[in-house]
Amino acid sequence: MHDRNNTIAGWVLFAGIIALGASIVTGELYHSERPEEMGYPIEGVVLEGEGEAEAEKPIAFYLASADIAKGEQVFKKCAACHNVDPGGANALGPALYGTMGKPIAGHPGFAYSGALKSVGGTWGWDNMSAWLANPKKFAPGTKMTFAGLSNPQDRADIMLFLNSRGGTLTVPPPPAEEAAPAEAPADGAEPAAGNEAAPADKAAAETTAAPAE
Ligand code: HEC
Repeated sequence: MHDRNNTIAGWVLFAGIIALGASIVTGELYHSERPEEMGYPIEGVVLEGEGEAEAEKPIAFYLASADIAKGEQVFKKCAACHNVDPGGANALGPALYGTMGKPIAGHPGFAYSGALKSVGGTWGWDNMSAWLANPKKFAPGTKMTFAGLSNPQDRADIMLFLNSRGGTLTVPPPPAEEAAPAEAPADGAEPAAGNEAAPADKAAAETTAAPAE
């Protein structure tokens, strides 16, 4: 009786170990295989060391839907070091009122690093986006100890906000490729189901297009 109980207990334990081992193995397989299966980027997630800009559209795309109020919110991350008020003082970082469209490292009275001073030129949408995405990559040796904003929409929002504070840039039109996609407007049903509708649509398109040319 005792022996049999021990044997049963032994089998139960054994089965448990097998199950545990199996779950570890499948768990590992599952995890190691998943990244390849998930070929789509997850918004806001940037794999470290990977080219974070790869899936990004031109900054003009994000600027088209940028929002000054959101940018002001994101700017809270910068406010510990930067003032954006007119006549604001330099702090840990330079005052940022009147930065967009102005010379890089150009605020009087701030001791910029040689790294940023040597960049040259003025702040535009593209170089500011690159700087905010990764300050150390944009100006190796910079004094700005800020990791960067990986989300392009955050950068667009913050740049629009900065531009509203003494900046001189105009917002670029959305990239041309945005207008290009052949997707029909929501009301134009795809001809897949209704073949009869297609010629009529075409005729309508031709008649409307003709006078323009
Ligand atoms: C920990 C402090 C710190 C934080 C946080 C910080 N910065 Fe800076 N920032 C600096 C310093 C220091 C410099 C000067 C860099 C140099 O000279 O290399 C600088 C420089 C800049 C410049 C260049 C200004 C010029 O006159 O050319 C801009 C633009 C800027 N920061 C924007 C931002 C924005 C936007 C954020 C938030 C997303 C931010 N910074 C967060 C410290 C900071």
